[in-house]
Amino acid sequence: MGFHTFDAGQADRLEDPGRYRYCSRDELIAALDVSEADHVLDLGSGTGFYTDDVAAVAGSVSAIDIQAAMHAAYAEKGVPENVDRLEAGTDDIPLADDSATSALSTMTFHELPLEGTMDEIIRVLSPGGRFVVVDWSKNGEGVAGPPLEERYDAASAAETLSAAGFTIERASERPETYLIVGVLE
Ligand SMILES: C[S@@+](CC[C@H](N)C(=O)[O-])C[C@H]1O[C@@H](n2cnc3c(N)ncnc32)[C@H](O)[C@@H]1O
Repeated sequence: MGFHTFDAGQADRLEDPGRYRYCSRDELIAALDVSEADHVLDLGSGTGFYTDDVAAVAGSVSAIDIQAAMHAAYAEKGVPENVDRLEAGTDDIPLADDSATSALSTMTFHELPLEGTMDEIIRVLSPGGRFVVVDWSKNGEGVAGPPLEERYDAASAAETLSAAGFTIERASERPETYLIVGVLE
């Protein structure tokens, strides 16, 4: 199980450019190692704040979010042509096996039902696929983001990816957040 789902009534907060201090566009793109050849999954895409950044350099992005209200907020902002919005849970992704080359989840991993979600990511990602997770860390101070008791730290998040079959390329603790890069064999 995951912890509580982000309140769609607070969607505007996700569009604050100040969020880049926790994960910059450049850091995310570099971790994903993404190009125009890639089909990327954004797991818990929200208003598309980071989706847009990835879409600017990827071939296509599937923006997966369980809340219709978040997709509506994204539509109101404007959705790039190469982004397909899918209203679905990350534990039931409406895409074919091996159909994506990489996946990301920003500030959302703690909300997801991990057992079903990890199975689905493994199913949909093709061999060699990358999965980048950036989320609030239990080792943070709690000055922003969800309560500390709802968070994972880098080591436990990396262990979840490793147990699912990813080789961990990077697992970093940073101010208030962690970043994991897993690669599928
Ligand atoms: C904190 S917001 C972050 C949104 C976006 N990743 C960002 O960084 O701007 C978390 C998002 O994950 C979505 N979400 C939560 N649980 C989900 C699930 N099981 N499947 C798909 N989306 C989910 C929520 O609806 C919400 O839009």
